[in-house]
Amino acid sequence: MGTIEVVLGDITAEDVDAIVTAANESLLGGGGVDGAVHRAAGPRLAEAGAKLAPCEPGNAVATPAFDLAPVKYVIHTVGPVWEDGERGEDEILANCYLNSLKLAAELGVGSIAIPAIATGVYGFPTGRAAQVAARAVRSLPVIDRIRLVAFDEETCEALTTAVALGEDHGRSVP
Ligand code: APR
Repeated sequence: MGTIEVVLGDITAEDVDAIVTAANESLLGGGGVDGAVHRAAGPRLAEAGAKLAPCEPGNAVATPAFDLAPVKYVIHTVGPVWEDGERGEDEILANCYLNSLKLAAELGVGSIAIPAIATGVYGFPTGRAAQVAARAVRSLPVIDRIRLVAFDEETCEALTTAVALGEDHGRSVP
């Protein structure tokens, strides 16, 4: 079983094998973390993404990381746009994490950084998203080092709490 860390910072500064970006279906880049990743990786990222688009919500696709080297891959996943929590948003968000991890494992990735998918422009409530994220990454221990990267204190606390709760559940099981 690998490690799950919660860190506060800019995901484009992460020294890992793969960085996950919270993309939109076009994979051409946008604002938020997607904008930061595309700026850091350079214009080839959008060119590579365009060849794989559209990416349905919950799915994940991988491209090289280009100018983000030594990062090897950017995994593009599309989160759910939050409506009211009754439209399968939790399941789509969980699939973002699960499909990103499955794809990373297929690529032989040893370490991965994942942002708080869907909690920005897409409006997914931070606390609820953190619980979905922690449960999903814990359910699929296929990558040695998982770093959940928060960009603000609130998100960092939510992820830290959610991951810690999962650990308690793990310890309490006889
Ligand atoms: N490093 C880590 N996390 C970041 C960074 C960064 N450099 N920049 C933003 N974030 C955080 C946000 O603070 C938020 O917690 O990433 C989380 C996800 O927010 P968004 O980037 O807005 O992603 P999302 O809510 O999934 O919306 C996706 O926004 O940027 C567009 O093209 C993207 O259309 C898509 C939509």
